[in-house]
Amino acid sequence: VEADADWAARVRELARARNAVLLAHNYQVPEIQDIADHTGDSLALSRIAASSEADTIVFCGVHFMAETAKILAPGKTVLIPDARAGCSLADSITGEQLRAWKAEHPGAVVVSYVNTTAEVKAETDICCTSSNAVDVVASIPAEKEVLFLPDQFLGAHVKRVTGRENLHVWAGECHVHAGINGAELAARAEQDPDADLFIHPECGCATSALYLAGEGAVAPERVKILSTGDMLHAARDTRARSVLVATEIGMIHQLRKAAPEIDFRAVNDRASCRYMKMITPAALLRCLEQGADEVHVDAAVAARARASVRRMIEIGQ
Ligand code: 13P
Ligand code: SF4
Repeated sequence: VEADADWAARVRELARARNAVLLAHNYQVPEIQDIADHTGDSLALSRIAASSEADTIVFCGVHFMAETAKILAPGKTVLIPDARAGCSLADSITGEQLRAWKAEHPGAVVVSYVNTTAEVKAETDICCTSSNAVDVVASIPAEKEVLFLPDQFLGAHVKRVTGRENLHVWAGECHVHAGINGAELAARAEQDPDADLFIHPECGCATSALYLAGEGAVAPERVKILSTGDMLHAARDTRARSVLVATEIGMIHQLRKAAPEIDFRAVNDRASCRYMKMITPAALLRCLEQGADEVHVDAAVAARARASVRRMIEIGQ
């Protein structure tokens, strides 16, 4: 299947016939981003899913995102073009592991990144995304212990910004972001000393970037630790002529659209998420033709997860 004009017309026609809204994460391939009704980061897409008037949500992203949409909109049909599109970060903690961790810290408030399964969300007090993690943790009374999971790099970032000692971090990671390393970033930053650095907080190199700034190798105001959605705002605001981007490479497409005059370069151009890339033009067409793969979340699990996800979309509005 070629993503040509016929494909685009067919996708639009089928979406209309189902009264479906097409959502695409910023890491999707460009053809999918360009046909979607809305592109965005995890938080923005969850908010759109929660308030959409459509009968069907077609989620072009990974499975936990489609599950989150189903939790927020249980009465709607939620489809994902390929249900095998998982997430290595969401796989790094199970409901059972979380229950055991909670038992070690009675009374602690559990903050889970949205990159988790519905079962983990059902054991969670407040969910967050990379764009509101700091606000979510800051909303918790200072004397309360916090269990933050599953991403260790986002956890370290939140701990650094909030200065909170009673925040415990799970040792999970995303294989794509963890693979963008500090040495690579330092080498690129040295070649391009006037570039801004846009760094997703899931990256292993976020700490190195702050270290580079501390050492005077990069001007501190050029180091920006941002969610994918916030990268787009920063791209519109910056005066830099070039930007080094540390996140999944799909992001470059939206950045170039937002600020065509800026030279955006990936810190690691092999940082591609194989799960995000399972949503191909052919898979989207099949999804709309066949109404598959449909996403189901057990009703009892969804009911328990809903409060934590609702708090996520409310905080940091
Ligand atoms: P955001 O879109 O919230 O920045 O998340 C990045 C990510 O890795 C999603 O899988
Ligand atoms: Fe999960 Fe990482 Fe892929 Fe995002 S980029 S979906 S965190 S594996």
